[in-house]
Parts: sequence; structure tokens; C-alpha cells
Amino acid sequence: MTKRIAVPLPKAYLLLNHGPTVLVSSAHDGRQNVMAAAWNMALDFDPPKVAVVIDKSTLTRELVEASGEFVLNVPSRQQAAMTLAVGTQSGREVDKFVKVGVGATAASAVGAPLIEGCLAWLECRVIAEPHIQKTYDLFLAEVVAAWADPQAFSAGRWHFPDEHRRSIHYQAGGNFFATGDAFEV
Ligand SMILES: Cc1cc2nc3c(=O)[nH]c(=O)nc-3n(C[C@H](O)[C@H](O)[C@H](O)COP(=O)(O)O)c2cc1C
Repeated sequence: MTKRIAVPLPKAYLLLNHGPTVLVSSAHDGRQNVMAAAWNMALDFDPPKVAVVIDKSTLTRELVEASGEFVLNVPSRQQAAMTLAVGTQSGREVDKFVKVGVGATAASAVGAPLIEGCLAWLECRVIAEPHIQKTYDLFLAEVVAAWADPQAFSAGRWHFPDEHRRSIHYQAGGNFFATGDAFEV
């Protein structure tokens, strides 16, 4: 497992503030799964909350609704092919951990796993909002633990160590951007 440091909860929003595509990992009743999600955002500072769209057709949706938990994992440029692979196949048909070769390790506060090799992880508990879940596939959740690879994020700032370990942003059709260089104003 990638070395990771705890991110103080009031700083957890910083892991998503620049808009990276994430992996949503989930687990329930002995099954676990992972999918890609570009439609995610930070929602509050303290207690930190997130929003993410999880389509009705997905196995992830079933596991998240059953368990009330998920993890948002921030993948790196070198995990872009894996991100596309877990975003274009369903866990209903294949075990993506085996077929795609995704590594998983236990989280600290939720049953959903942390995806190995990522840059950051937000462990989340669903805030039940049945209307927006049903109507917009939109899930709100409280972040109950947050972690980052200290080589990529520390002291409240991202500082990507090399071209391979930058977060990614999805356009469409297998086309991504890598996060660019930071600048101050
Ligand atoms: C880069 C990328 C981003 C995606 N973003 C979302 C998203 O924000 N919400 C969503 O419901 N599906 C999104 N998808 C599609 C799901 O990842 C896809 O339906 C996946 O196969 C569902 O897997 P599951 O059935 O194993 O849960 C995205 C796919 C890709 C490739």
C-alpha cells in the first residue's frame, strides 16, 4: 500500500477542490467494487461533505445504497488506463479487482476499500437524501476519514512529485487531462 498520512477533516475538501476524476469504491455483504466518477465535488468544510453522481445502472449504486458507505479515491496519471477500465465495465459482469488488476486495502472507518496506488482517499458515509438520489442519482456524504500520499499532498497543498503522479480530469472517449502546475496570485 502507498504510504499515507491522515488529512485533518477540515482540510479534506482540498483533496477535491481542483476537480479531479475519482474512483468510487464500495463494499457490502462480502462483495466489493470500484468505478470511475468525474461528477464529484467537495460540499462543505467542517464536517466535510462531498457530492457524487452514481448512476442507477451501476453495481456501485447497489452496494452504496445497501452499505451507506463509499470511498472516493483520487487516482494518478499512471492509473488513467485503470480508471478508464473500471469506468467502462461493470462489476456485475467482471471482478474488476482481478480482471483490471486493482489493488485494495482496508479503510479505517468504512467497509469500502482504499484503492492502492492512489494519491488521496476520502472515506465517506452517505447522508440519506432519497429524493435527489432517486431523481438525480446524486449522493451526498460526510467524510469521516481522509488520507493522502505525502509525496503528493501535505500541509494543505498538492505538490505532484512527477508527471506520472498528477491527478487527472476526464473529458470523454478515453481522453483525460493531467492536473497542471500550481501558481499563486
Ligand atoms: C472517466 C469516467 C468517469 C465517469 N464518471 C461517472 C460519474 O461521475 N457518475 C457515474 O454514475 N458514472 C460515471 N462513469 C461511468 C461508470 O464508471 C461506469 O458506469 C462503471 O462501469 C460502473 O461500474 P459498476 O457497475 O461496476 O459500478 C464514468 C466513467 C468514466 C470512464
